Amino acid sequence: MYNKERMWYNFNINMIKIQVITLFPEMFDKVLNSSMMWKAQQAKAATFELIDLRQFGVGPRKQVDDTPYGGGDGMLLKADVLVAAIEYAKKTNPNAKVFLPTPRGTQLKQSMVKTLAADQQDMIIVCPRYEGYDERVTDYVDQQFCIGQYVLTGGELPAMVLIDSVVRLLPNVLGGEQSAEIESFMQDDQNIEFPQYTRPEEFRGVKVPDVLLSGHHAQIEKWRKEQSHG
Ligand code: ADE
Repeated sequence: MYNKERMWYNFNINMIKIQVITLFPEMFDKVLNSSMMWKAQQAKAATFELIDLRQFGVGPRKQVDDTPYGGGDGMLLKADVLVAAIEYAKKTNPNAKVFLPTPRGTQLKQSMVKTLAADQQDMIIVCPRYEGYDERVTDYVDQQFCIGQYVLTGGELPAMVLIDSVVRLLPNVLGGEQSAEIESFMQDDQNIEFPQYTRPEEFRGVKVPDVLLSGHHAQIEKWRKEQSHG
């Protein structure tokens, strides 16, 4: 959109680039190429690159993991393999921030998501698998994050959560611009949204709250604010 007063074009020139390092790139196909994430790519708000960790494996069998020093169950992703993949991603995007999903990381919150979206921060997300990773990879990571107090089998789902939550807030992605505004007054520890209803007015004996049928915009606004404080 051309703004006459300020003489600039409000094009979304800052397309954010998100690179994901994973052993299972196919897990991202449907998620990134459907719905809002697809729209984000069409709108040139975001672009995604999936980097297959296997190609950085060592030896003829492209080994990516090894047994832990000191003994213990399972295999750990090797630091040399993970760091080679991070450095590969950084070659095309030296200023990207490197994220590592881990149950030991900082809890992902809407405030952090908003900051990342507002800064249009390019991201490299490294997805661990198996029993974990060699701790020395963390020297190459800017932010360790956790999506909840439970343990998943890998970093792919947390990576998708981070991507979805950030990308939906980028300019030109969210359908109703209103939705971002609605969220703007909300704090991390509050319920994000008020309850909503559509037709029919009564479903199995449960009616839509009267205030929503009243047509009083100020009252509706007040009710919604009350309802969104959890
Ligand atoms: N990896 C395994 N579980 C996780 C979690 N809850 N959050 C982030 N990364 C994880």
